[in-house]
Amino acid sequence: MLAQLDTIQTEALAAIAGITDEAALEEVRIAFLGKKGSLTAAAAGMRDVPAEQKKDVGQKLNEVREAITSALEATAAGLIAKKDAAAFANLDPTLPARPLPKGGLHPLSLVLDEAVKVLRRMGFALAEGPEIETEWHCFDALNTPADHPARNESDTFYFENGKLLRTHTSSVQIRTMEKETTPVRIIAPGSAFRRDEIDATHLSAFHQLEGLYVDRRVTLADLKGTLEYFFREIFGSKTEVRFRPHFFPFTEPSFEVDLKLQAAGRAAKWIEIAGCGMVDPAVFAEVGRKRGDAAYDPEKVTGFAFGMGLDRLAMILYGIPDLRLLIENDVRFLTQFR
Ligand code: PHE
Repeated sequence: MLAQLDTIQTEALAAIAGITDEAALEEVRIAFLGKKGSLTAAAAGMRDVPAEQKKDVGQKLNEVREAITSALEATAAGLIAKKDAAAFANLDPTLPARPLPKGGLHPLSLVLDEAVKVLRRMGFALAEGPEIETEWHCFDALNTPADHPARNESDTFYFENGKLLRTHTSSVQIRTMEKETTPVRIIAPGSAFRRDEIDATHLSAFHQLEGLYVDRRVTLADLKGTLEYFFREIFGSKTEVRFRPHFFPFTEPSFEVDLKLQAAGRAAKWIEIAGCGMVDPAVFAEVGRKRGDAAYDPEKVTGFAFGMGLDRLAMILYGIPDLRLLIENDVRFLTQFR
């Protein structure tokens, strides 16, 4: 038995020495160590070995198995090393890596960051509210009568439970005044939704930036100064700003804000950019009724509010001709803003 095991070891090591590929390696492994392999068969012979020899034969069996296994492992490692060397033969590992494509911010994020930076410097804090709103926050509390066209099914997305997709960020004015006391000085960027036909200047989902400042003795001069400063920071210090009388249910007086802008090679043109006004006392009264206190007593507090379209701001700032470019995610468009 001991001699037989020696023979198996000699044969196995000789066979392993001649191996040049992985398939042959596996064949040899099976021939000696597999279920029907010669060493496995020899091990089965342990049964017939007389008891006094069992210890020696068992030890020898383990030695042979060990010798064959480690020879197989060493050969396998050698084959892998050879393969790796071949794979790296034509490769210069000292070459610099290929650069990864660099990401960038969406133009809307860029204008928003810019706008928020300027307004925060003036003491405005960020505020937010839900996109799925109640009619009360979106319309009633904002002094918008039941028969106002904005409340029409054809202009606003309603849910079956009576809630709606907010048509403007002005609802955040109400949300903020419900939980904060004066002075309130917030800006609220966010999405707004209207049932518009989609074209170059209209999307059914767009972005607004709302502002609200409420305290004692806030005046129209504060509103004008704030917005003039804001637009000059964004569009340049020589930008002309015009306040044109307008109507919003929740401000009185109300204005639309125009900027005089000059596209390259064209005559300067007034472009409408924002809505604004002094908070209507009816809004304070409704907020006070809901709060059940006098924090927004219309006899004591005044305030201004403004709202503008961020998409429009981006269009003007970057000369984007079609709003749809902002949502198509075409990298040829987006990479221009890196
Ligand atoms: N919410 C108005 C709009 O969507 C804009 C606005 C905001 C007007 C605040 C006045 C004050 O058109």
